[in-house]
Amino acid sequence: MSAINPVTDLSRDGDIAVITLNAPPVNALSQIMREGLIEALAGAEADTATKATLLICAGRTFIAGADISEFDKVQTGASLRDVQNAMDAAKKPIVIAIHGTALGGGLETAMCGHYRVAVPSAKLGQPEVALGLVPGAGGTQRLPRLIGVEKALAMVTDGKPISAQDGLALGLLDALMPEKELKEGALAFARQLIAEGKGPRRTRDLNEKVTGISPKIFADFRAAHNFRGFEAPGEAIKCIEAATTMAFDSGLEFESRIFLACKNSLQSQAQRYAFFAERKAGKIPGLADDTPILPITKVGVIGAGLMGGGIATVFANAGLAVTIVEADGAALARGLDAVRSGYESSVKRGRLTADEARIRFGRLTGTLKFEDLADCDLIVEAVFENMAVKKNVFARLDKIARSGAILASNTSFLDIDEIAAVTTRPDHVLGLHFFSPAPVMKLLEIVRGAKTSNSILATAMKLAKAIGKVGVLAGNAHGFIGNRILMQRQDAANALVLEGASPYAVDRVITDFDFPMGPFAMADLAGLDLGWDAATSHGESMRDLLCEAGRRGQKTKSGYYDYDAARKASPSPVTEKIITDFRAGKGVTPRAIGEEEIRERCLLPMINEGAKILEEGKSSRASDIDIVWLYGYGWPAYRGGPMFYADSIGFGAVIAGLKKYTIAPAPLLEKLAAANKRLSDFA
Ligand code: 3HC
Ligand code: NAI
Repeated sequence: MSAINPVTDLSRDGDIAVITLNAPPVNALSQIMREGLIEALAGAEADTATKATLLICAGRTFIAGADISEFDKVQTGASLRDVQNAMDAAKKPIVIAIHGTALGGGLETAMCGHYRVAVPSAKLGQPEVALGLVPGAGGTQRLPRLIGVEKALAMVTDGKPISAQDGLALGLLDALMPEKELKEGALAFARQLIAEGKGPRRTRDLNEKVTGISPKIFADFRAAHNFRGFEAPGEAIKCIEAATTMAFDSGLEFESRIFLACKNSLQSQAQRYAFFAERKAGKIPGLADDTPILPITKVGVIGAGLMGGGIATVFANAGLAVTIVEADGAALARGLDAVRSGYESSVKRGRLTADEARIRFGRLTGTLKFEDLADCDLIVEAVFENMAVKKNVFARLDKIARSGAILASNTSFLDIDEIAAVTTRPDHVLGLHFFSPAPVMKLLEIVRGAKTSNSILATAMKLAKAIGKVGVLAGNAHGFIGNRILMQRQDAANALVLEGASPYAVDRVITDFDFPMGPFAMADLAGLDLGWDAATSHGESMRDLLCEAGRRGQKTKSGYYDYDAARKASPSPVTEKIITDFRAGKGVTPRAIGEEEIRERCLLPMINEGAKILEEGKSSRASDIDIVWLYGYGWPAYRGGPMFYADSIGFGAVIAGLKKYTIAPAPLLEKLAAANKRLSDFA
């Protein structure tokens, strides 16, 4: 094997030239790899002893895309287009061998090869929309030529990878190879091509699937899909359409122009920022790489309510055995029923086979005995949000949990140290704050108590990934990161309603910003009685009045909204009357409040609170706060999160806006503004 450069090798296997790429961890197509590839392709072409070329990757995956970290730098040297021109010009057939993930520029390079084989576990996708981009290296021109327009439209707009089996059925792959025999299989495939006298088969010349396509396909596709405020999917549709109306090279030019415009857009900058922010969140500052990780195979959950049932489902889905403890039999039966019907609905929607649902549900054991948790590696408490109840649970747990077990609370707001203090092992206690609905929401706040050990934190961070969540470290403060910021928005929303805005108008402004739901719809979903106590409630707030009237949110089919049997929300005259009376009781004369004021008063205090959290060291970095809001509360991805949004509108607008509503800006905002720094870079 001869090294072309540190990431590219060219060797010979009989009459096949073998190009091997090796740039861990994901073989991103960086400048050095593009240059190596061009040189290797030239070497393979020039070698008179070979009749075909094989392109394969070392490590855990085929090329997972262009190197995103280069997007903000000035590009020098060979471009991906140069690589592709070299592949298109090759006189010997090029076989591409795929394992792991062929994504974005990786799949585009594969499609530029003349034949493609893969192992059954491989995945193929054009995920660029998730970065606010369209495929920019011919993906929108080659993909429909291989798999047809309709499938290509789906792949470039939803960004989800397809399986190798689907790739084979669709014509994206020519053959599947046994899992551990990719190279041997691909070499044999190449030799067969040679034996059959088959030469290059350029995707650019395969026009059948893009000829005679009715424009109606595109109109229908647009009508059937709502991409909310996301611009990239609509741009990707235009590019696929171009593949059906333009010659190949013009289509490529069209795609390049759109790719460039997307790359420079604020939306793509925000989404690329979020991509790296998510990966950064997994790294806890100050923790050594060799911090011991504890094994977790058996999990206990205490409380089978909304969250306990959801959390148990998350662990069962990840293959772990789960024991759920409840205080009374009826609640346990209700909780297990809710989990079972969750699985049944996944089966109905085609997301899970009936067999798989049965296996997962079979991992759960319900009990009324705390003692059954004695052999658990991790126990997550999800009982009522009440300090006395939680302390009682942890004191009991401390007596029965095995030594070394991790004890976690799913509390939304309460002090983790106060909870930990009732145990003899506060170093093994932390917050694991899941979001509702737990099986769906990707965020897991990992709350560090004053005494939580590094090993427990590192284990929790690793666990987050294993159960499909994005873990973010949070300091122990009322509401941690997410709910602390949420309270600011909720207080502002409540104040706006008191002053005259309707809760429905407030929600509309927030959903127009592209949140999936507004503050009042969200409060209904969480349950208005979360942390509310009937015994001490005296109609002090709108929430008190609604709860006192039995309107406790979606679960009672009424809260700020009324809910029908299908949980469809509609504005409620009863709630409107409660609000009108509440204002009158407070002596408030309602005034008309515009959308801009609603937006500013809801969003600016969130930024301000984020800055305070950073000042207090309750979050390690601003980008962690953004990840919390992107994955826990549905902040629109193309706006990057509250900290990134602050940078995008500028400190001037943030500070002036806060002052307009007589809110004192956090000192950090003024400090960073004076230093001309970005908030989202703060760490
Ligand atoms: N460019 C640069 N770095 C990348 C990268 C890329 N395309 N993909 C992954 N990485 C980096 C990550 O930042 C991370 O770095 P770190 O260790 O320093 O934090 C490291 O590779 C490992 O990544 P993950 O932690 O995400 O590893 P996983 O095994 O969980 O996931 C993956 C692997 C599925 C490949 C996932 O990394 C992924 O989805 N990557 C992005 C794929 C993508 O979006 N490709 C399209 C890029 S845009 C493009 O190709 C444009 C083209 O059309 C011109
Ligand atoms: P819930 O009221 O639906 O469920 C609580 C369950 O705990 C009940 O089934 C109850 O019977 C059980 N329970 C109470 N005391 C118990 C004990 N001593 N032993 C065993 N079981 C006991 O409440 P929910 O919404 O599930 O909340 C649970 C916790 O999760 C709270 O701390 C809450 O703040 C937190 N949380 C709630 C979220 C939400 O959206 N509802 C989101 C994230 C966290």
